[in-house]
Amino acid sequence: MTTREILKYPDPRLREVGAPVQAVTPEVQALVDDMAETMYASGGCGLAATQIGEMVRIFVVDCAGEDEPSDLRVFINPEIIEADGQQVWNEGCLSFPGVNEEIKRAEHVKARALDRNGQPFEVEADGLLAVAIQHELDHLNGVLMIDKLNAIKRRMMGRKLAKAKQDEAQT
Ligand code: NI
Repeated sequence: MTTREILKYPDPRLREVGAPVQAVTPEVQALVDDMAETMYASGGCGLAATQIGEMVRIFVVDCAGEDEPSDLRVFINPEIIEADGQQVWNEGCLSFPGVNEEIKRAEHVKARALDRNGQPFEVEADGLLAVAIQHELDHLNGVLMIDKLNAIKRRMMGRKLAKAKQDEAQT
């Protein structure tokens, strides 16, 4: 397993759309393992393949709390087949280090995907897991959290990103 470099906004590769995975081969499983390791190493609760420059439809999430056992979930070729309700969550993203924004999404989703062994599964989620599934699926379509903000908040986020980058350069 290898920790991969995470692309940071505004890297244009974050705008690419992931291609469907044709078969869950050992190479695909190795990529999944790299993604999980990269997500844990960065302290995130989700990571999409497009965030490490692999343009395929895979994401991993682990929404377990700090005191809970890990709950790694692998989604290959994911689809949201039901979405309802509404919630606002203060979201972060490994491609937007140092910023969090309140974003409105569906409260409850039902998703379908293949797991790490290529087996189909369905999951119903609400709360943080529902947020993470929607956020990561957006990544596979080249959609980023900044797109969910209104013009004023987008501009403020640009400033926060510039400041975070400056702070990083100073440390
Ligand atoms: Ni993200």
